[in-house]
Amino acid sequence: MASSTADLGLVQQRIAAWRADRLSIALVPTMGALHRGHCSLIELAAQCSDRVVVSVFINPTQFGKGEDLARYPKDHDGDLRKALGAGADIVWFAQSDQIYPGDFATAIVPSGPAKGLESDHRPQFFGGIATVVARLFGLLRPDRAVFGEKDFQQLRMIEQLKADLAFEVDIIAAPLVRDPDGIASSSRNAYLSKAGRSKAVAVPAALNDACAAFAAGERDATVLQRIGLQRLLEAGLRPDYFALRYAADLQPVNGGLCDDPGRYRFLVAATCDGVRIIDNCRPDAPPWD
Ligand code: PAF
Repeated sequence: MASSTADLGLVQQRIAAWRADRLSIALVPTMGALHRGHCSLIELAAQCSDRVVVSVFINPTQFGKGEDLARYPKDHDGDLRKALGAGADIVWFAQSDQIYPGDFATAIVPSGPAKGLESDHRPQFFGGIATVVARLFGLLRPDRAVFGEKDFQQLRMIEQLKADLAFEVDIIAAPLVRDPDGIASSSRNAYLSKAGRSKAVAVPAALNDACAAFAAGERDATVLQRIGLQRLLEAGLRPDYFALRYAADLQPVNGGLCDDPGRYRFLVAATCDGVRIIDNCRPDAPPWD
């Protein structure tokens, strides 16, 4: 049986056969260029489901003008090897006309947790993701779908999408994975030069600084955010935001913080030598312990 295909009909047949055998199915949607972070999502999917489908599709609708759609990293053979090695049963290299057939005429406009932060800088981003993820759910009807906490706002947006559109799929959150230097694993890290990488370490370092201040008793959100921003600016990065938000709905924190760190999340986006890096953590879970 093929373990990789561009044939949607074949993927749907395999899923139907598994379902007839009462096997549970997890989907791991990706844009390819798989790295350790993706592998951890696939491993988690394999732990919680009988069969794992990995989709690979560079979704054009989530890229804005001037973004890196044309040069987004591609690695067909590496993706296949890594996905199967991590526990995928089938890898679907989706084609544009399968996801967006010529008469496709729907665009989802997410709000709630999708408002602000990334949307302030990439207005098309979450609409494109919500639309492609809804399409994947409709085409494959998985029991579960796994998304990484690396894209924390995306994760919250998809949980909201599932609730609002009543998709019968469990959304599983997978912990963020870091490269050995502390930078969150991301396909776009491939764009960083050696010098850029050592500068980009300021992103997890900014989270670390804010976490250290939280651990030392600082409970003023404005002060904690300023501490993170300062580290980014000192390192010569261009921050889009360093924010402290309620973890549940990503609303801004009003007033002082309570002592329960689980209620909050630091979220950061900054550009380093032309490469945009996002990261996040709980105030009690700094990138470096
Ligand atoms: O997280 C990603 O790689 C993408 O945003 C996703 C969820 C695969 C949609 O294109």
